[in-house]
Amino acid sequence: MSEKRREILVTSALPYANGPIHLGHLVEYIQTDIWARFQRLRGHRCYYVCADDAHGTPIMLRAQADGITPEELIERVGAEHRRDFADFAIGFDNYYTTHSPENRELAETIYLRLKEGGHIVRRTISQAYDPVKEMFLPDRFIRGECPRCGAPDQYGDSCEVCGATYSPTDLKNPVSAISGATPVERESEHYFFRLADFEEMLREWTRSGHLQPEVANKLQEWFEAGLKEWDISRDAPYFGFEIPGAPGKYFYVWLDAPIGYLASFRNLCDREGLDFDAWVRPGSKAEMVHFIGKDIVYFHALFWPAMLHGAGFRTPTAIWAHGFLTVNGHKMSKSRGTFITARSYLDHLNPEYLRYYFAAKLGPHVEDIDLSLEDFRTRVNADLVGKLVNIASRCAGFITRRFDGVLADALPDEALYRRFVEAGAEIAAAYEGREYSRAVRLVMQLADQANQYIDEHKPWAVIKEPGRESEVEGVATEGINLFRVLMIYLKPVLPVTAAAAEEFLAVEPLTWADLERPLLGHCINRYRPLLTRVEESAVEAMLEASRGDLQKPAARPPAQEPQAQEPITIDDFARIDLRVARVERAEAVEGADRLLRLELDVGELGRRTVFAGIRKAYDPQALGGRLVVLVANLKPRKMRFGLSEGMVLAAGDGKEEGPFLLYPDQGARPGMKVR
Ligand code: 2FM
Ligand code: ZN
Repeated sequence: MSEKRREILVTSALPYANGPIHLGHLVEYIQTDIWARFQRLRGHRCYYVCADDAHGTPIMLRAQADGITPEELIERVGAEHRRDFADFAIGFDNYYTTHSPENRELAETIYLRLKEGGHIVRRTISQAYDPVKEMFLPDRFIRGECPRCGAPDQYGDSCEVCGATYSPTDLKNPVSAISGATPVERESEHYFFRLADFEEMLREWTRSGHLQPEVANKLQEWFEAGLKEWDISRDAPYFGFEIPGAPGKYFYVWLDAPIGYLASFRNLCDREGLDFDAWVRPGSKAEMVHFIGKDIVYFHALFWPAMLHGAGFRTPTAIWAHGFLTVNGHKMSKSRGTFITARSYLDHLNPEYLRYYFAAKLGPHVEDIDLSLEDFRTRVNADLVGKLVNIASRCAGFITRRFDGVLADALPDEALYRRFVEAGAEIAAAYEGREYSRAVRLVMQLADQANQYIDEHKPWAVIKEPGRESEVEGVATEGINLFRVLMIYLKPVLPVTAAAAEEFLAVEPLTWADLERPLLGHCINRYRPLLTRVEESAVEAMLEASRGDLQKPAARPPAQEPQAQEPITIDDFARIDLRVARVERAEAVEGADRLLRLELDVGELGRRTVFAGIRKAYDPQALGGRLVVLVANLKPRKMRFGLSEGMVLAAGDGKEEGPFLLYPDQGARPGMKVR
């Protein structure tokens, strides 16, 4: 590795300080953490900072509802966030809060410089005001009937029923979500940032490789629509920083949030004696990289570089956006139990599994990723337990029992070891380019080769043949060295397992540079299982606990909810083979209080066994002879109780009501296609 030592400041978006961290958040922290750990492993200087996003109306109101001060709320939530992140091994160099003296000072500096440059203007606007609560109402806090479809109890900015977007003044019969009072229109002076002053600079910046191509394209649309002035002030009462020289006016939370990246870094620099200014001045050689979700691109790719540039700071090296997380193909949902908080996950499962699974799914593009819990379990078990740690567990016993724990002095197959090391260039390039799924695939291909090597040399058989001990010593030494290479490659993804592997190998923390020299003539420790299988019961217990988890997710400002799924085409639909089936037998399944085992006659397709989660609503006796609708080409699923060869269709609200089986009308026969 001849690359020179880089200096990199990395951030993830700041989570709001009024709700728990959930698996959706973790996609980003895991993605960023892997990248930061990879850079450090390669010998670069990389600081990863973050903070709680502590300001804004939702936080102020939440504290009031809980009967505490906002400071108490953000303190409590901040502590929970830190614990969750630490338990997921997110290795921040600093985790701070935007409600900090450093952030106040930086926000004031940036604002005053923008003002001096003539980029701030004042204008009087008219807004909805709650006369009882005596405060202006953000759009999300006004509810009423949708002006398009009439649906009741919709937000002030968009309708969840018909998808219309509008302004709160369009709502019919509006009420304040805080007091229930009818809002009145009231005028107030606001401060605006003249984004359009930076159009030329932004057009140039957004074309210069700082963004993913798909994001850069999206920005072209925004330029075409015209850059509007950005309202950066909010009236009291507001939890935030008062604007200098403007009593009763506060910086909008989104102004000081990104500045919080710098404030967290400033706090770290002061603590560790680093030269903050050298990192943030224009022309700085250091890199500044922000990982974000696709919903906050506008703030990061337009406002943020413009603010920095206008205030005489360096602009970001890169803004990298990722997609949203779905669980089992759907938006996370409380009733399905798939709104999973970091804590409920940690209560049941090893965080390294999730780090691995997300890595195996993450690419460099702005695509949503799905956590399919079945796939999660199979994949982690097959890859991590079945392939990776298996290499060490197959070899270690020979070294410990037969050779006093000491590895051989030479590798029997140098060339194989070399091939493993040479693969490192491609794996490193994949990490660097955030193609973690490719990095993981390459590592698992190597793991297959290592297992094949052991299979071919059969140390368990050879050891029984007198005089062939040293062959076994060599094979086991080779295997353990191949395992060590793979652990180096996966260390950014599996830092805790890597630390346990270092303990097993009795070595100092591994780095990329350690690839060059295999571990020979060295005494290792007794092997203890590094990872164990994911049990279905643990996944189910987590879902069950999440169903009962009534905590609210962090409130998000407008237009940041995950978008609806893409519509499917008629061809997509045609891929689903729906058939009429007759229930031949139905019986309860012991140990599964939601399942019935159905034996189905599907006409020309023969007989099928299906486990259906309908026990709550159906007596098995009553089902014999009934016709149902079967998804006949669903991949068979291995369940604890047997193989399920399809799925019967039923309706329900996912909570109390249902399931209600769908029945074909009279005249339908088993095997008939349903369309
Ligand atoms: O969308 C959010 O969750 C915001 N709290 C992210 C802020 S990121 C940065 F700008 F601080
Ligand atoms: Zn509507």
